[in-house]
Amino acid sequence: MMKLALISTFLFFLLFSTSHAHLAPRTLLHSFSKISTNSNRSLTTKELWFNQTLDHYSPFDHHKFQQRYYEFLDYFRVPDGPIFLKICGESSCDGIANDYIGVLAKKFGAAVVSLEHRYYGKSLPFKSTTTENLRYLSSKQALFDLAVFRQYYQESLNLKLNRTGVENPWFVFGVSYSGALSAWFRLKFPHLTCGSLASSAVVLAVYNYSEFDQQIGESAGAECKAALQETTQLVEERLASNKKAVKTLFGAAGLEIDGDFLYFLADAAAIAFQYGNPDKLCPPTCASKEGWRRSGGGICKIC
Ligand SMILES: *[C@@H]1O[C@H](CO)[C@@H](O)[C@H](O)[C@H]1NC(C)=O
Ligand SMILES: *[C@@H]1O[C@H](CO)[C@@H](O)[C@H](O)[C@H]1NC(C)=O
Ligand SMILES: *[C@@H]1O[C@H](CO)[C@@H](O)[C@H](O)[C@H]1NC(C)=O
Ligand SMILES: *[C@@H]1O[C@H](CO)[C@@H](O)[C@H](O)[C@H]1NC(C)=O
Repeated sequence: MMKLALISTFLFFLLFSTSHAHLAPRTLLHSFSKISTNSNRSLTTKELWFNQTLDHYSPFDHHKFQQRYYEFLDYFRVPDGPIFLKICGESSCDGIANDYIGVLAKKFGAAVVSLEHRYYGKSLPFKSTTTENLRYLSSKQALFDLAVFRQYYQESLNLKLNRTGVENPWFVFGVSYSGALSAWFRLKFPHLTCGSLASSAVVLAVYNYSEFDQQIGESAGAECKAALQETTQLVEERLASNKKAVKTLFGAAGLEIDGDFLYFLADAAAIAFQYGNPDKLCPPTCASKEGWRRSGGGICKIC
């Protein structure tokens, strides 16, 4: 007896949604990088590096790691134009996108610089991500990274312009998690910025944020919520009886940790609501559940 019709419909949604959202963490918005096809997607992708302090809180530990950054100077009004620091968040930072910040930079004669977040992309302090090695991954360390980088970049610009002690007006920008960093940076280092743009900034950290999932249930409505809960329940049952089979069904045979698997499953549904696509999730999920019930619960296409 197979009850996997419901799961299989859900699988299609999972594939659909992840290919569009790149498994975005549920509470974080992904960058608005849809640029029209006939203009360049990036202002620059040329990597630059500087030596960052690993632990900003230790007076004894002077370890460094290589942190990646980018600069775009085409619009810069030499020598006293503003500097826009675009903060990168919890993903690889592969360049400076050609978005509205480019428009603002052009208008205001700004230089645009962007720093990759520690532990993401190529800015890796360690080769492996053991728990021990992850101890310097925090938003607090990241804020100091930004402060140190800001000082470093201002000094190297001054050097290039044959001057000392000059400060350009700095502005920080960020979206979602990096939006929170942008707001926090302005609060923590008011002397290092003239302003901050914090878009969809998630400034309130909530431990074990189950209210988020409760809201998903509310947004889903009774029927879809029940179908989603049943999906979770069916998958949990199968994880207990035949782990490999149910993971294989989702193309996730290689995913060893059950918690990760369940997280992706739940997140695939949650992001449908967060990004405004309940219509792509609920009707097929509910229809599948209904179809399975009416067929007497016996037939399943996939198995
Ligand atoms: C797009 O990028 C290429 C290569 O960097 C450059 O030659 C070209 O001028 C750019 N086009 C526009 C519209 O900025
Ligand atoms: C970073 O440190 C390395 C090794 O100490 C050094 O070779 C390199 O020049 C430094 N880079 C910068 C930008 O200071
Ligand atoms: C800075 O000074 C050096 C040496 O005096 C000179 O060669 C260079 O052109 C100057 N650069 C600028 C941007 O003024
Ligand atoms: C998280 O919150 C839920 C609901 O309030 C509770 O049942 C659960 O025990 C909490 N878990 C942790 C790890 O705090």
